[in-house]
Amino acid sequence: MKGIILAGGLGSRLYPLTRAVSKHLLPVYDKPMIFYPLSTLILSGIQEIALVSSPQHIRAFEQLLGNGDDFGVKFTYLVQDEPRGIADVFLLAADFIGKSKVALILGDNLFYGQGLGRQLARNREITGGKIFGYHVSDPSSYGVVSLGPDGQITSIEEKPISPKSDLAIPGLYFFDNEVIEISRQLKPSERGELEITDVIIEYWKRNKLQVEILERGTAWLDTGTPEGLFEASSFVRAIQHRQGLGLGDPIEARRFAP
Ligand code: G1P
Repeated sequence: MKGIILAGGLGSRLYPLTRAVSKHLLPVYDKPMIFYPLSTLILSGIQEIALVSSPQHIRAFEQLLGNGDDFGVKFTYLVQDEPRGIADVFLLAADFIGKSKVALILGDNLFYGQGLGRQLARNREITGGKIFGYHVSDPSSYGVVSLGPDGQITSIEEKPISPKSDLAIPGLYFFDNEVIEISRQLKPSERGELEITDVIIEYWKRNKLQVEILERGTAWLDTGTPEGLFEASSFVRAIQHRQGLGLGDPIEARRFAP
């Protein structure tokens, strides 16, 4: 399975912090933000990773991460000329993905939890698509999935004004190789982007979408606003001080990877 980290977008909710610097290079306590999603992929047992960013910022990622030898992985760098949407990365990275399955993680999504690596690693042999559901108090700024009494999916919506459930869809997705063909057929949304939610809905229509609920003990943090960034830094600091373990440390993640 290949992995993709999407570190594009304007980061406008963090202006002026992100006018000159990529959001994904800002510090979350003692590490650049990108280290956290990178560690999540490494913990999932993924070793071939493409980093997608804008023409303005791609060089900085290369400087920070190099070819991947330091972390026991292999990096490929891909440029997204304009923010054309999350699903656009599957077209951009089609050659990199080749015939493999692929995990996509958004560069500002921070996950932490007991046994999470093992839980995620089980998806390396995925058939179809896998999304996660996470209970949040205000799901309206996320993709939202709702489930019926038997756990079957009843709706999937992007940033609904009146969400039908409190299950937000975090920015971590596992897909089989069909994702490339599905993305090729997508039409841009009203805001002119290829939406990840439309990819997910297509897998659902094909009866090939699984949803896994992330347990209460798992933390999923949003780092896209000043409050979220500050809270994530406090969280990382508290856990590291208490346990003496690195959180979001790709070198340590490699030691625990399957
Ligand atoms: C994106 C996705 C959304 C998902 C979220 C997770 O939103 O479109 O479905 O729930 O990431 O972080 P964005 O961050 O682009 O607002």
